[in-house]
Amino acid sequence: MSTQIPGSVVDSSLIRLALKSWPEVDDYLKVCKAVIIPIGSTEQHGPTGAIGTDALTAEAVALEVGRRTGVLVTPVQAFGMAEHHLGFSGTMSLQPSTLLGVMHDLVLSLASHGFERIFVINGHGGNIAIAKAAFAQSYSSAVTRGLPGAVNLRCRLANWFMAGPVFREARELYGESEGQHATPSEIALTLHLEPSLIDKQRPLPKPAPAGAIHGPDDFRRRHPDGRMGSNPYLAKPEHGAIFLEKASLALSEELISFMMSP
Ligand code: NI
Repeated sequence: MSTQIPGSVVDSSLIRLALKSWPEVDDYLKVCKAVIIPIGSTEQHGPTGAIGTDALTAEAVALEVGRRTGVLVTPVQAFGMAEHHLGFSGTMSLQPSTLLGVMHDLVLSLASHGFERIFVINGHGGNIAIAKAAFAQSYSSAVTRGLPGAVNLRCRLANWFMAGPVFREARELYGESEGQHATPSEIALTLHLEPSLIDKQRPLPKPAPAGAIHGPDDFRRRHPDGRMGSNPYLAKPEHGAIFLEKASLALSEELISFMMSP
């Protein structure tokens, strides 16, 4: 499989699946069998954060990883499993079984064309368990359906916000105020991507602490303004640029080793 030399960044128009014709995808598959799927969520991010935070961030990191590696990036799967956020206006959630089905179908579609390395860049913690279940289901289905590449199909989940350099930078910048939802790190990245969001920023009272997650009513009772231990007012657009750089570098390296792995 061929990749760009790491560090030789290509224009994003060259790596977006949505801008390719099918013969171009055929040609791509002759030299590379890897593809990136960004997945996010459409859910509340506290009283000052954008509903689209997890989708915006996952897509931005995915496109940057694509630019650095030359690997194709599919359109973002902007809806995730956000059942516990449904107590807040604007949240749109897929049930766990629905998301599992969606992820499975997307992987199988790509595998049927010959893609063998499916690299899912995720922006939302609630998707993690389901994505992994979808991968297991996909391996099984690829065999059942007799796909020629079934034995070589590999899926990998990469959570950009959990990449080591991102995690460490967030701790250094924000300490305990990073929290677990509507975190300043993810909000900073959205401020970098979409400067109009800076107008929403304002000081907020002490957040409710992070804790166990159950249903939407319980979540809203425990976390009245939607935040879990975070202070997103600390987020700055220039931090977002740093997070994008660190996340895309770390995930590009992970993708390249994933592509080379047997
Ligand atoms: Ni988020």
